[in-house]
Amino acid sequence: MESKKVLVSGGAGFIGSHVANYLADQGNKVVVFDNFVGGKDNLKYFGDEIEVFEGDMTDRNACKKALNKVDAVFCLGAHAAEGQSVFIPIFNAETNLMGSITLLTESINAGIKDFVFTSTIAAYGKPEKLPIREDAPLMPEDPYGVTKMAFEHYLRVYYELEKINPYIVRFFNVYGPRQRMDDPYRGVVPIFINKCFKGENPIIFGDGLQKRAFTYISDIVEPICSIVGKKKLINNPVNIGAEKAWTVKELAEKIIEKTGSKVEIEHVDKRTSDVKVVYADVSKAKKLLDYEAKVGFDEGIEKTIEWAKGEGIKDFKYMDYFEIPKMAHGIYKTKDI
Ligand code: UD1
Repeated sequence: MESKKVLVSGGAGFIGSHVANYLADQGNKVVVFDNFVGGKDNLKYFGDEIEVFEGDMTDRNACKKALNKVDAVFCLGAHAAEGQSVFIPIFNAETNLMGSITLLTESINAGIKDFVFTSTIAAYGKPEKLPIREDAPLMPEDPYGVTKMAFEHYLRVYYELEKINPYIVRFFNVYGPRQRMDDPYRGVVPIFINKCFKGENPIIFGDGLQKRAFTYISDIVEPICSIVGKKKLINNPVNIGAEKAWTVKELAEKIIEKTGSKVEIEHVDKRTSDVKVVYADVSKAKKLLDYEAKVGFDEGIEKTIEWAKGEGIKDFKYMDYFEIPKMAHGIYKTKDI
């Protein structure tokens, strides 16, 4: 992408902050747009080259102001918690769907064409065939996946109306430095690392044989930042992530070993709507985005633990807000993670 002014919504978040840094390093003028619900920790990675604009994606006026003179939008602002979304469907829809629609609306009003959206492998739901190709049916199993899928359709509609050039990336289970360690509802990698640091047993939902394609952050940042201008990927969703999947049990064992922690795995009931095995075909990304996984699982986990050591032990921050309390896993209510 030639040098542009780009807006990164959710730019203070885990993936968003890496994307903001990368785009700035490429010589773009970057505006980070965030409501800081996820905290301000990642602002420490930004220098003067990145403008930070505080605002909420659901606020039309804030979107309008933040989009001033912007050439391209990276829509990464979301509450990325699949398991939690089943018991907070309203919050999930307001943040992930209404927020994205508002940003899209004001982008169109501002005449912005290039709009990059981070969708998810969760949009496929329980796969009919593995690895999942992009043309597989979208049948999400939780509200988080539903809102991501729905917004993909909004983008398609406005593309067909010739208002926007959507670039849709479907990420898998991304992990690495800057992912929140204090959030008990999402991000199994930092949760397990934090538990090991505390000397507490990591808790697995179900038998632990559910498989996820854990993908190290740097492997997805480069392809997403180079997507704008790739004509073949306009309105053509692309999977990006690791080709190999690991069980959650293998992950827990790996983190216990690499942190040298004397803890043991504990099992509790399965999480609601937890897809068993999910990984996807990435041949389209390899062909059209030169995607290549460079960081292996062991190396990625080691790098994440090294970063986490610098952060230190964190207290988990629980919510006392349950829209459908009976759908929340007991462990969230008893605050036992
Ligand atoms: C993650 C992403 C989401 C993405 C999706 C694709 C995060 C924060 N969210 O959701 O944006 O769209 O992948 O699949 O990365 N688990 C435990 N114990 C725990 C926590 C989790 O056993 O303490 C298990 C869960 O039941 C699940 C797996 O680990 O099977 C992964 O959970 P999690 O890291 O929360 O991610 P997803 O829900 O898959």
